[in-house]
Amino acid sequence: MAILPIIKYPKEILRKTAEPISEISEEIVTLATNMAETMYDAPGIGLAAPQVGVSKRLFVIDLGKDENEEKKSELLTFINPQIIESRGKMKYEEGCLSIPEIREYVERPSWVKVKALSISGQEFELEAEGLLAICIQHELDHLNGVLFIDYLKGLKKKLIAKKLMAFENIK
Ligand code: NI
Repeated sequence: MAILPIIKYPKEILRKTAEPISEISEEIVTLATNMAETMYDAPGIGLAAPQVGVSKRLFVIDLGKDENEEKKSELLTFINPQIIESRGKMKYEEGCLSIPEIREYVERPSWVKVKALSISGQEFELEAEGLLAICIQHELDHLNGVLFIDYLKGLKKKLIAKKLMAFENIK
């Protein structure tokens, strides 16, 4: 197992459409394991393969524990995920390990049904709501080169532009 370096905005790979995974090879299993370890280390609740420099359709999520130390979810691995249904609306203050220090409210569907392959190659469907639904959509966006800051409009967009420029200057 290894902790991988996290690619930061505005690196080009974060804007690419990731490739579907045709075979869950040993390499993919190792990648998923290392991504989980990297996510726990960060710490974060989700991490997509492009964020560790691999343009493939894979992400991991673990919401961790709530304030009562109850587990909110297990480690979930999604390979070639697709959202097949969504409904509702909710606003959540999102952040991203690739865009440190910026958190902004984004509105997304509050409920999604997602289809994906597990790390053992089994197809599964999952219905998710609330934070898990938000997290799935945020990570799936990464596979399509979309970042949460892309949803910001008007004044909010202007307000973060300065912070983003600081990132661009250190690339
Ligand atoms: Ni992110």
